[in-house]
Order: sequence, then structure tokens, then C-alpha cells
Amino acid sequence: MSWRPHVLMMSEITADGKLTLRRGASSKILMKYMAPETEILLHQTRADYDAIMVGSHTIKIDNSFLTVRKVPGKSPLRVIPNSRGDIPLESNVLKPDAPTLIAVSERATADRVALLRDRGVEVVTTGKEDVDLPLLMRILHDSYAVKKLMIEGGPTLNWHMLRDRLVDQIRLIHLPFIVGGSDTPSLVGGMHIEHEEDMIRLRLDRFYLCGTNLVTEYDVLYQGGT
Ligand SMILES: NC(=O)c1ccc[n+]([C@@H]2O[C@H](COP(=O)([O-])OP(=O)(O)OC[C@H]3O[C@@H](n4cnc5c(N)ncnc54)[C@H](OP(=O)(O)O)[C@@H]3O)[C@@H](O)[C@H]2O)c1
Repeated sequence: MSWRPHVLMMSEITADGKLTLRRGASSKILMKYMAPETEILLHQTRADYDAIMVGSHTIKIDNSFLTVRKVPGKSPLRVIPNSRGDIPLESNVLKPDAPTLIAVSERATADRVALLRDRGVEVVTTGKEDVDLPLLMRILHDSYAVKKLMIEGGPTLNWHMLRDRLVDQIRLIHLPFIVGGSDTPSLVGGMHIEHEEDMIRLRLDRFYLCGTNLVTEYDVLYQGGT
């Protein structure tokens, strides 16, 4: 892929495919139940990647750090698509533990962009309404030397990245719980597929135990290639 980074989607999910305990809950509650070996896998993956991206709503709910803490290594560039640039100014991703790039759209006011830049983070504008993800991928690749990007959700961002054919691999950490709830966020949101030909096809690449957690890895197969 010469114009954009290689993209890995990584997520912990329950046996019923959910990402959190219930709608509006932080994923940190479920993450407490990951095996220590799996936490290491997550942090090692962060250390191996140039950048990590999560949606603005995850930042608002989880107040994630997105840094490497459990293994030695450099924290990746933290990338947050946030059209209005309205994540709280006290968010952990705006602290100087690692570099951060906030991707806003034309909906962000100049004042808001200035406030974010005052926090020492990079701000790039792409897109009129939502952030233009394909353009953001190109900018990350060409201007920030991001060759490998991991995304850690949430479901809305996961859906848009898949819909825009920007995901190459998926790695799932399976948590042996069922949480239920028809409105509990699952791996991919926003999807209302009408026809079977619209399904996004995956090829199982490998599966293994990491501590007590099953991990599965898939290649994403887009019709006609990426
Ligand atoms: N288990 C896990 O691995 C895991 C990981 C991450 C999150 N989660 C959970 O997922 C939940 C949050 O997920 P979510 O689906 O509500 O939100 P999300 O995917 O984290 O964030 C979506 C938001 O990103 C912004 N955005 C800007 N441009 C976008 C674009 N082109 N495409 C998509 N999003 C764009 C939009 O808000 P703006 O108005 O700011 O533009 C959008 O509403 C939380 O409960 C969190 O705990 C779980």
C-alpha cells in the first residue's frame, strides 16, 4: 500500500461480540479482565506501530492514554478524528506523554483549533462534516511517516474505516463473557447491510492462546482489492 499506512484493527470483544459492558460504559471495565499476557500483547503492538487511532467518543468516555506502559518501547503517535475538535482539554491524550494529532473537519472553529494547538498537539483539517479518513490516511503516510497504524475502536470509527476500505487486518482478543444488550456497542457499528454481497469478507489468518485469552487474526478481503 504505497499511499496509506498498513492498518490493523485491534479490539477486545466478549463472546457475544460486544466492546463494553453497556452503552456509555468505558471499555476499561472489560479490559481489567484481559490476561496479563494479553495486556503485554496490546502494549507490544502499540510499541510496534507508528500510530494509534481511536474515535473521539472513545476519548470522551474512556479518557484513554494510548501509550506504551507494560513493555519497553516508544509510544506511537496518537491520532483522534474529532470533527469539531471538542474533546475535553483535560483529556489524557492532550498530555505530553506521547505526540498527538487531532484530525478536525471544517466544522472546527479557528478558536478551538488554537486551543488544541496551545496544548502542544498537531491539528490537521480534512473533510467538510466528518473527518475525511482516506485523506487523513494519506496525510499520516506522506507527512508523518506513518507506515503502520493500529486502530482501537470504537464501533463508529471501525465501521467508517472498514467502509472506506482502509483496514488490512483485524486482531481480536476474545473475552470469555456475555454482556448482552441490543444497544451495547459491538465491534462494528453503523452497518445496515441490505445484500449479502455487501458483507465484508475476512480470511482467518491464525489463532492462538495468549495467556487465557483466545486471539484471532484475520485479513480483510475487499471485493476487487483495496
Ligand atoms: N473494547 C474495545 O476494544 C473498545 C475500544 C474502543 C472503544 N470502545 C468503546 O466504544 C464506545 C465508543 O464508541 P463509539 O462508536 O460511540 O465512538 P467512536 O468510534 O470512539 O468515535 C466516533 C466519533 O469519531 C468522530 N469522527 C470524526 N470523523 C469520523 C469519521 N470519518 N468516521 C467515524 N468517526 C468520526 C465522530 O465524532 P465527532 O463529532 O467528534 O467528529 C464520531 O462520532 C465506548 O463505550 C468505548 O468504551 C471499546
